[in-house]
Amino acid sequence: MSALLVLLPFLALAAPPGDPVAGREKADTERCLECHGSTGDGQGFSTGSDGKFARLGGQQYDYIVKQIQDFRSGQRKHEFMKMMATGISDADLADIAAYFAALPAMPAGAAPKNTTAQQLYQHGDAARQLPACTSCHGDSGKGIAGVAPVIGGQGKAYLEQQLQDWRSGSRNNSAGGVMNQFAKPLSTTEIEALARYVSEM
Ligand code: HEC
Ligand code: HEC
Repeated sequence: MSALLVLLPFLALAAPPGDPVAGREKADTERCLECHGSTGDGQGFSTGSDGKFARLGGQQYDYIVKQIQDFRSGQRKHEFMKMMATGISDADLADIAAYFAALPAMPAGAAPKNTTAQQLYQHGDAARQLPACTSCHGDSGKGIAGVAPVIGGQGKAYLEQQLQDWRSGSRNNSAGGVMNQFAKPLSTTEIEALARYVSEM
């Protein structure tokens, strides 16, 4: 009995508790797919330069769960997503998050090299105490489990909006306020260039 209790946290780490097959059904009936797309490549309305919905295919399980909890609590503010987030149970959330997390990685392009955005992403800017984005979001923006989400291949319009929201403080749900701190010194031109670079990397 006690041995089992000790083991449980490790089992939880090994595999997300949700069921991706049930999650596919629930993401459909709960309408998530209408905006967030149904497959890893198509991504529904999340594609294209106008896409303001986040791509969820290939995103980290824990990150998806945290965002839904933050929408529910109001820690991350968005009226429509608050309604969607409070409309699903924790069990549904586990399955839906497992479904999206199991989809292939977000589509990558071939971002242009040697740009200001690449320089910022890879090396940051010591003069402004800006750390390299790679240090948390990983090479090619593939994310680092337990540290920061996947951003590489995410939609450009969505990325740009989020960076503006971190900068203005209207989004402030990152632990320790790190993303607000890093977005603050960025110019609007840098945000646009970073969003383009990250979406194509
Ligand atoms: C009518 C469109 C719409 C529907 C339906 C919808 N969403 Fe969203 N979702 C959005 C928008 C818009 C955002 C971006 C919010 C913002 O700008 O902060 C978002 C953001 C998210 C995020 C955060 C993504 C990230 O990268 O941080 C998650 C997770 C999410 N939605 C999950 C869901 C789930 C699960 C469902 C179904 C229960 C759902 N959404 C239904 C429009 C929608
Ligand atoms: C110290 C670690 C750290 C560094 C460095 C960092 N980030 Fe983040 N970033 C995070 C974390 C953690 C989150 C998720 C916060 C949350 O829970 O909502 C995040 C979220 C984001 C998001 C929102 C993703 C989504 O799906 O909504 C974007 C965009 C982003 N970061 C871009 C950047 C860029 C560009 C840089 C470099 C200028 C950068 N980050 C540097 C930790 C970091």
